[in-house]
Amino acid sequence: MSNLELKNLTITYGGAKALNGLSIEVKEGEFVALLGANGAGKTTSLRAISGLLKPTTGSIRFGGEDITKLSGYKRVALGIGHVPEGRQIFPDHTVDENLQLGSFIKRKSYKEVSQTLEEMFGLFPKLRERRKQMAGTLSGGEAQMLAIARSLMSRPRILMLDEPSLGLAPQMVLEMFRYLKKLHAEQGLTILLVEQQARLALQLASRAYILERGQVKIAGLAEDLIIDKRVAEAYLGTSH
Ligand SMILES: Nc1ncnc2c1ncn2[C@@H]1O[C@H](COP(=O)(O)OP(=O)(O)O)[C@@H](O)[C@H]1O
Ligand SMILES: [Mg+2]
Repeated sequence: MSNLELKNLTITYGGAKALNGLSIEVKEGEFVALLGANGAGKTTSLRAISGLLKPTTGSIRFGGEDITKLSGYKRVALGIGHVPEGRQIFPDHTVDENLQLGSFIKRKSYKEVSQTLEEMFGLFPKLRERRKQMAGTLSGGEAQMLAIARSLMSRPRILMLDEPSLGLAPQMVLEMFRYLKKLHAEQGLTILLVEQQARLALQLASRAYILERGQVKIAGLAEDLIIDKRVAEAYLGTSH
């Protein structure tokens, strides 16, 4: 069971509340979108789930276990993968090295690491062509693929992505979303996707939460939200 459950989570920066009693859930095998305007608390939510920020109230459960107090390393080992805002790959290391760093926490054998590498190159053939190249020389789209593949190296049960489309050309955004769809459909990966491109995210996800000021403002099935008037006006940039 890899249910992820946040209950009444509060996170403060200095005195300001970035999350204010946030409760969301992602069930095993689901594809859930986390939407909302800039500053709504999306990045903070993902950072809290991966253990980079400590909540002042509330709890986080994953796979039936309370992980609120676990270190980030242990959360990766349990199967929480995080593709951070801005990708955060190492530009002065090769594609190969970036990928190998992704499997570091699980301390796998050499054989396991090279098997997982092969799998990643099977999924992302462009990365195989560039494996000896410095990551800093990749295009934006390739760099995002690398960030995703690096996170997959730890064999997560849930993959969280923070605005993966940011800075990509429209064609690359579609290609990247096709990969996410494939990972979800063919590998059964559970996905929590933070996106500014709300319409695209709602086309991929089965469910979504829309955050406002660190709380859930609207929640529902993606197919309902995409035709919901409140959502269209405030988040999809259309009024119909
Ligand atoms: N490092 C930080 N220090 C102080 N305030 C922050 C910091 N990071 C985010 N915030 C504030 O927390 C709130 C939520 O931010 P964030 O989670 O980054 O939102 P989103 O990802 O939805 O744009 C915002 O009001 C933002 O200004
Ligand atoms: Mg953000």
